[in-house]
Amino acid sequence: MATENSSIAPSAPRPVRIAPSILSADFAKLGEEIRAIDEAGADFVHVDVMDAHFVPNLTIGPPVIKALRPHTKKPFDVHLMIAPVDPYLQAFADAGADIITVHPEAGPHVHRTLQEIRRLGVKAGVSLNPGTPAKMLDYLMDMVDLILVMTVNPGFGGQSFIESQLMKIEAIRKRIDKEGLDIALEVDGGINTETARRAVDAGADVLVAGTATFTGGPTRYAENIRALRGD
Ligand code: DX5
Ligand code: ZN
Repeated sequence: MATENSSIAPSAPRPVRIAPSILSADFAKLGEEIRAIDEAGADFVHVDVMDAHFVPNLTIGPPVIKALRPHTKKPFDVHLMIAPVDPYLQAFADAGADIITVHPEAGPHVHRTLQEIRRLGVKAGVSLNPGTPAKMLDYLMDMVDLILVMTVNPGFGGQSFIESQLMKIEAIRKRIDKEGLDIALEVDGGINTETARRAVDAGADVLVAGTATFTGGPTRYAENIRALRGD
């Protein structure tokens, strides 16, 4: 397992961490792309795993993650959009995932799924779709290291940010702080420099960005990441 930071949720003041989604990378040279975003200052590598069943798109699985693992020491933030999810957790952990995030709708027992992710020695994340209320987190707050708020419906890169999710981010930030929990609050979908600022103002501290990171090719990655971070 490769981690540069032992905690994924530092205490305030909160640095903004950027997690480029490799869904927008050049799939013909993924190893190179990962080395380029690492050098450009990415904090996590966000890997979108889709099954053409839970979401209407099909992407990559554990063998690709395993092949990419030696190309960076940055944490692999693996976002599973697959159902069922439980039978594949071990394979993603073995492939080198540092964080595994699941959707509660992807299995009948999300609490058990999160227990299993931690048992595998991986940080556990839960993701809320735009239509899934924050209340879903009741009884899960002690089970997660990361909460991922989807600001698009999962399935594709390049969609528009759904404004209504800002209220959800605010509510979750209040809850994390009030309860004094060590949980990263990540936002995914339609992030650009403008929506990044709004998401951070609402309380997010990890920004997933596919299109906004990879636009313009490798010579632009450092500048793109800096702009998203608000530096
Ligand atoms: C959507 C994925 C996102 C997506 C983000 O299902 O979870 O990570 O690739 O892409 P952009 O940043 O282009 O909206
Ligand atoms: Zn994602």
